[in-house]
Amino acid sequence: MANVAVIGAQWGDEGKGKVVDWLASRADIVVRFQGGHNAGHTLVVGNQTYKLSLLPSGLVRGKLGIIGNGVVIDPEALLSEIARVGAQGLAVTPATLRIADAAPLILPLHAALDRAREAARGERRIGTTGRGIGPAYEDKVARRAIRVADLAEPATLSDKLDELLLHHNTLLAGLGAATFDRRELLQRLLALAPQVLPFAEPVWERLDEARRAGRRILFEGAQAVMLDVDHGTYPFVTSSNTVAATAASGSGIGPAAVGFVLGIAKAYCTRVGAGPFPTELTDATGTLLGDRGLEFGTVTGRRRRCGWFDAALVRQAVKVGGIQGLALTKLDVLDGLPELKIGVGYRLDGALLRRLPASPQAQAAAEPVYETLPGWPDSTRGARSWADLPAPAVKYVRRIEELVEAPVTLLSTSPERDDTILMRDPFEG
Ligand code: IMP
Repeated sequence: MANVAVIGAQWGDEGKGKVVDWLASRADIVVRFQGGHNAGHTLVVGNQTYKLSLLPSGLVRGKLGIIGNGVVIDPEALLSEIARVGAQGLAVTPATLRIADAAPLILPLHAALDRAREAARGERRIGTTGRGIGPAYEDKVARRAIRVADLAEPATLSDKLDELLLHHNTLLAGLGAATFDRRELLQRLLALAPQVLPFAEPVWERLDEARRAGRRILFEGAQAVMLDVDHGTYPFVTSSNTVAATAASGSGIGPAAVGFVLGIAKAYCTRVGAGPFPTELTDATGTLLGDRGLEFGTVTGRRRRCGWFDAALVRQAVKVGGIQGLALTKLDVLDGLPELKIGVGYRLDGALLRRLPASPQAQAAAEPVYETLPGWPDSTRGARSWADLPAPAVKYVRRIEELVEAPVTLLSTSPERDDTILMRDPFEG
């Protein structure tokens, strides 16, 4: 039985929540392996709407949730999310959630530094979520992070805070931001420790047992390949690797156990935050896609930039992310448009490129090259079989498959969980 990893194939917000929720109902364990509470999933179950940022989605389906070592955990955000879903009737306990003892923590000083730096960047800001993700990953790589296991050792915490504050207070003061007091931070962490530690364990051991027992594991990616710190539109990216390979290193399991890699892409394209977006539409069609697609960030509340489907970009994500099948979402948002464009490459300095160049200047200068396809007047909303789709919609999906060099294995036609056309069960490999 294959496991499944789900990753975004564009710039995030591809509708992973619905697909992950659908797959979670068929899995035994759901694992987050990178990112932090910068992610945002909205899940509708019965008459409850759950907004999750850090908790693995499978929890709402009664599945075991695991937060891997590759995630950066803000303990205060974690506890408040647990309290929030608890108030909605979903009890998250150490029996239903396990957290890697090796996961680094996000502290209030990380969020403060994130925001102070963004303010200092001015026009050149990245448009981060301001939640301290980048600074927390920096501390991990710099070997000064406080990790979950450290919460059990007050003396270690105290020493680590000294080292952290030497670094962060200097930076914060230089940026004109308020600095942090060591004693106050220590008290905050010591107060949180007894609430967080019951969830902590070496999750790799549990995953190894689950794998050997043939349990179905779903790896739930956050953000997307074009926000990957190596493969994305650097520096306008998040600070983790978002490709499927990270499911292995970010949870402590071998690469062969990751299983089938499902990429999620919208039938058009959106982006929050700053950075290159070659197929962006700043005209009435862009506004229409945003209005129809309800394109507002779950975490940031910001309006998303919208544009045509960029097949060259998704093809690149397929290659570097190891995507074996694509789930195409929000096809219905395109209903009624007279014609549709698909980006098939870029023109740069007279040359034709089939991939996005690496430098930010070249990415910004790359002009999209389009192929035009006929639209469809009929509604595809709620279609549950291939036969329910108008011929031009089938043609559009088939053309995407050819251009991105991956099969569309799942098609979603409305926010409802059951309005999904399944071509292949990812758990069957
Ligand atoms: P950070 O992850 O907060 O450092 O933000 C870096 C970039 O990633 C910014 O452009 C954010 O808008 C973007 N980003 C982070 N998380 C998400 C997400 O869940 N969906 C879409 N964009 C995201």
